[in-house]
Amino acid sequence: MKYLVTGGSGFIGSHLVEQLLKKGHTVINIDNFDDFYSYKIKIRNTLESLGQNPDFQYHSKDEDIEKIVSETASDTYRLYRQDLRDREGLEEIFRKHQPDTIIHLAALAGVRPSIARPMEYEAVNIQGTMNLWELCKTLGIKKFICASSSSVYGNNEKIPFSETDFVDNPISPYAATKKCGEIIGHTYHHLYDIDMIQLRFFTVYGPRQRPDLAIHKFTKLIFENQEIPFYGDGNTARDYTYIDDIIDGILKSIDYIEKNFGVYEIINLGENEVISLNEMVSTIESVLNKKAIKKRLPMQPGDVQRTNADISKAKNLIGYAPKTNFLTGIKKFVEWFAKQSPR
Ligand SMILES: NC(=O)c1ccc[n+]([C@@H]2O[C@H](COP(=O)([O-])OP(=O)(O)OC[C@H]3O[C@@H](n4cnc5c(N)ncnc54)[C@H](O)[C@@H]3O)[C@@H](O)[C@H]2O)c1
Repeated sequence: MKYLVTGGSGFIGSHLVEQLLKKGHTVINIDNFDDFYSYKIKIRNTLESLGQNPDFQYHSKDEDIEKIVSETASDTYRLYRQDLRDREGLEEIFRKHQPDTIIHLAALAGVRPSIARPMEYEAVNIQGTMNLWELCKTLGIKKFICASSSSVYGNNEKIPFSETDFVDNPISPYAATKKCGEIIGHTYHHLYDIDMIQLRFFTVYGPRQRPDLAIHKFTKLIFENQEIPFYGDGNTARDYTYIDDIIDGILKSIDYIEKNFGVYEIINLGENEVISLNEMVSTIESVLNKKAIKKRLPMQPGDVQRTNADISKAKNLIGYAPKTNFLTGIKKFVEWFAKQSPR
């Protein structure tokens, strides 16, 4: 099969590309190497996803990305440095490659930065996503998997969070763009028979995790004996999902959508294991064998109190079977972290 993955040089995307290629599929990767975090990390992700040596001689951003684009091109893999906001550029790629299924992971991610840059989040996460759906409509592409987020649940008090819960109260622009994507996605499904699965990922971690996310950030700071920003009283909690489990959920969603028709589903992908901030830090401390220096700060606007996934729908519908408990996942993350450069 031919898959078009957006954001395939990012954290989750590079793992997905790696698995799709291992299964013998063809992958078209659209990623603009945005500056949310260093392009160097995305180059390394790209090389690792292709099973190539991740050591790279860096010069300048444009030159380096051009090199990686040309040197990785093969019969089964093509990378395009392409922005979702540029519909004409996207159209050229879609027409050239005629993918069977789209897995849309590119986005401006991150809750806190979305409060400072809401218009940009709207342009990328909503208009950029609509550009893809417009092309699916025009070119008759009928299978679409889309990254949504647990953040759509906002500060809902009923736990665990279930797909049927009311989610009209997002508390950050990022969450609002993800919820909006679910709604507009339904419209495209309804009008143009595009089979669609919206996956609500619950905080994903593991090798290649984005450097802005707490587990990665804290591991680096504790490792370097620097202070960690510790927001609130430590009782906020997250359902952390290990990357291999998320990839398993995406692959099973692809399988489901390809075998079924008339599909529009929203599915939680979490671990169903809730870890408090206190527990998260103490687990990293014990695996690194170092003590964190905590800089206590008030809760941040936009941050939710707790996430907790009800994953029964994922289990029943697509056979999702997460396996990695938090301690095992942190050990694997730290093992990867210790080998990294650049960080
Ligand atoms: N990591 C998590 O914990 C988490 C949780 C919930 C949802 N998600 C969602 O999963 C998806 C992947 O997240 P991730 O953690 O891998 O993020 P990431 O930032 O590592 O990957 C996203 C990729 O999209 C690319 N991108 C950004 N803007 C683009 C644009 N305008 N045009 C083309 N490419 C663009 C970036 O360069 C990046 O490589 C996102 O949609 C995110 O919102 C992630």
